Amino acid sequence: MDDISKRIQELKRERHAVILAHNYVAPEIQDLADFTGDSLELSIKAESVHAEVIVFCGVRFMAETAKLLSPQSTVLLPKSDAGCPMADMADPDEVAACRRKNPDAVFVAYVNSTARVKALVDICCTSGNAEKIIRSIPQDRPIVFLPDRNLGGNMMKKLGRKMELWPGCCPIHDQVTVEMIQRARAAAPGAPVLVHPECRVEVVDAADEALSTAGILRFCRESSGKRFIIGTEQGILHRLRKENPGKEFLPLEPAMVCCDMKKVTLNDLYVSLRDMTEKIELDPALAEAAVRPIRRMLDVK
Ligand code: 13P
Ligand code: SF4
Repeated sequence: MDDISKRIQELKRERHAVILAHNYVAPEIQDLADFTGDSLELSIKAESVHAEVIVFCGVRFMAETAKLLSPQSTVLLPKSDAGCPMADMADPDEVAACRRKNPDAVFVAYVNSTARVKALVDICCTSGNAEKIIRSIPQDRPIVFLPDRNLGGNMMKKLGRKMELWPGCCPIHDQVTVEMIQRARAAAPGAPVLVHPECRVEVVDAADEALSTAGILRFCRESSGKRFIIGTEQGILHRLRKENPGKEFLPLEPAMVCCDMKKVTLNDLYVSLRDMTEKIELDPALAEAAVRPIRRMLDVK
């Protein structure tokens, strides 16, 4: 283990800290983390881990979710400007105005949303449970889904249910095209194409599976296949290759890199634990309102 990794481990012990990392962050951060997962797994972990300090290696909405579910823990986001452009596409004032215009609708927010937006909605979902959450809403209730028009559109198609879609998207997944899938299939005949449901509807139609990052990891682990085409952010390739040494993983598009997920470095992690920065602080009234839709999501069986 290199020097900086050792110092991080020492500080982690001193602070009684746990490091959580999203499947997209840099390989060296994933390797040092106590737990690596998708948004849903990390939310559940943040709550169950009962740590004094949680260092969240990912983007701001994820660290906020950890703080909402684990208010007694100090939650640190080592890189304070690691945001999610999609989450920022839903402005809280516009969401509040939309609510006023649609008083009967159930507002469903993808967890990729700010705490201020979560405080305005009825229930959250992640890419791993969106189908279950939408199914739990009575058929006669109109739904407004935000901020991802692609995840929402994919659910509409899959469930045959009309929803009002917010015009947001992930810039990384929205750039994937059907032509990219055709080219990848021609280069690796027979390999299944696995994409994230943040990709456009026609892209999901052209793929073999649309799964959350944890779903992609599970699929590849359980499959007897030897070669897979991966249509999501590149960071996931590290875990896929590490956990499946006999299998081959081909990126659908090498440009699928989320710079926000790549912001945190080992040095940032060290400084964060040393200086206890940046602490996620949420106004108590906001936190009380914002945790409600997350808890509702976790309560859906
Ligand atoms: P997962 O919930 O599948 O980990 O995805 C989070 C995300 O930000 C995808 O871009
Ligand atoms: Fe946001 Fe897309 Fe980055 Fe995920 S990959 S954090 S949705 S910008």
